[in-house]
Amino acid sequence: MKGKAQLSANALTVLERRYLKKEGGKVIETPEDMFKRVALNISEAEKKYGKNDEEIREIAEKFYELMISLAFLPNSPTLMNAGRELQQLAACFVLPVEDSMESIFETIKNAALIHKSGGGTGFSFSRIRPQKDRVLTTGGVASGPISFMKVFNAATEAVKQGGTRRGANMGILRVDHPDILEFITVKQNNEELTNFNLSVGITEKFMEAVEKDEHYDLINPRNKEKVKSLRAREVFDLIVDSAWKSGEPGIVFLDRINEKNPTPLLGEIESTNPCGEQPLLPYEACNLGSINLAKVVRDGEIDYNYLKDIVHLSVRFLDNVIDMGVYPLKEITEMVHGNRKIGLGVMGFADCLIKLGIPYNSEKGVKVAEQLMEFIQKESKMASEKLAEERGSFPNFHLSIYPDMGYKALRNATTTTIAPTGTISMIAGVSSGIEPIFALCYKRTILDNEELLEVHPLFEEVAKARGFYSEELMEKIAQKGSIQGLKEIPVDVQKIFVTAHDISPQWHVEIQSAFQKYTDNAVSKTVNFPYDATREDVKEVFMLSYKLKCKGVTVYRDGSRDSQVLSKVDNK
Ligand code: CDP
Repeated sequence: MKGKAQLSANALTVLERRYLKKEGGKVIETPEDMFKRVALNISEAEKKYGKNDEEIREIAEKFYELMISLAFLPNSPTLMNAGRELQQLAACFVLPVEDSMESIFETIKNAALIHKSGGGTGFSFSRIRPQKDRVLTTGGVASGPISFMKVFNAATEAVKQGGTRRGANMGILRVDHPDILEFITVKQNNEELTNFNLSVGITEKFMEAVEKDEHYDLINPRNKEKVKSLRAREVFDLIVDSAWKSGEPGIVFLDRINEKNPTPLLGEIESTNPCGEQPLLPYEACNLGSINLAKVVRDGEIDYNYLKDIVHLSVRFLDNVIDMGVYPLKEITEMVHGNRKIGLGVMGFADCLIKLGIPYNSEKGVKVAEQLMEFIQKESKMASEKLAEERGSFPNFHLSIYPDMGYKALRNATTTTIAPTGTISMIAGVSSGIEPIFALCYKRTILDNEELLEVHPLFEEVAKARGFYSEELMEKIAQKGSIQGLKEIPVDVQKIFVTAHDISPQWHVEIQSAFQKYTDNAVSKTVNFPYDATREDVKEVFMLSYKLKCKGVTVYRDGSRDSQVLSKVDNK
């Protein structure tokens, strides 16, 4: 296997810290060795489908080339664990939480096993009976979902994912659960549920009640009885207020997610993985992988032939990952092999737009998002059909929505997901997922107190080519955080090099919605607000994401979490 990876110093540090094999604390693997280990391991799945050693070797070469060129990277657990003892390759899991002590503590144990292997877990707590409800066996009173979530949180804290990465959880509570008000506000205290992202599970019924300004019912999940009713707008405003204050909770549109559930006969989707991009059935897991869009721009245009090859090879890779993965529970293995969900997505979208000379916050930007994702979606389905001809459809195909849609065969119940790509985008050295670039110039602290000025490589290139590069200007930009309105910089450059905070929240949602339109699963995206944004601004974005058919939304108001820490100190 030939070819060397073009990695930045930053990427090397990340790899050395968490991905490369170590012995006695010393790194014993090069990045090339890592990609070789992964390529050889993932190509081994081909044996099961009748390929001979020579063919497998050829496929391994192709997988290696795919990764070493940084055109595609699988999610972190695959890079870390493929070809090693753990062999746990998926990033996303959802586990069921029933309304019993056995189920709750069994799930805590299973979540701990998953965290140890680098996977993230999502749960719906909606089945747990509310606080102060009856406990029949003991005659006592129930603790309610939030107090149990605190136990999950403590367990996650203790595991710390076997030293590879911090445990991450998603906690979902339906908006009609009697404890919903406490759930909405619980993370306003910074110290609560630190290993959780929270999302309110929103129903269509609730959204209708918000629109018509009506009351809706809270239902006890234990006996399905109505406990009381609340004014929908007041609850909605509380979610907005809380998200405005602390960035949490987010919202997920549960009914909308279930409208797109590819296997409704196997059950209802109640939760997503930690970052929200992967709705899954209980006991289901999914492995993700992302195409680096910065790599598919050739001479100022998207090279669709190249992109097509990447999509087809990536789908094959991700389908192989399903077979090579070892799952921590028998139930998970069965679900994963039955539905064979994969999540192919993208990273480097903002860098791709810059290379095309198109602003992120523009109609043209939205159009490119749609075109790219429509193409990836279509090709990924074609790749999955082809694989099905070779290997057979996913076993639950006949129980899925696909035969009615005219599919004769399909290998995977889903093919596309847009992940945050938090670490793999650092390895590839591009903007994460579909997010805009965060900063053009910034100071990074190295060796504890030495500061290094980092300049976005595409910006540095343009600044030098156009003759406005200087250390002083870059320092100034790092301080200011944006180039908008800087007279030293040509206006056309200002338009293209927009950062997260230069972009209005509406454009963030437009881009999210453009990708969602052609994505089977969901899209990970944070809508950034400036510090002085109002609650009304946040509310508008929630409504817009509902209107534009997003599956959920997460907001973050600049400085809101820091300001909380400050105000807490002030209060002391
Ligand atoms: O870039 P990388 O493959 O490391 O991950 P990502 O795209 O940022 O996150 C994808 C998924 O990995 C998340 O939604 C979680 O399910 C999981 N994850 C996790 O379990 N723990 C983390 N610290 C980060 C991500």
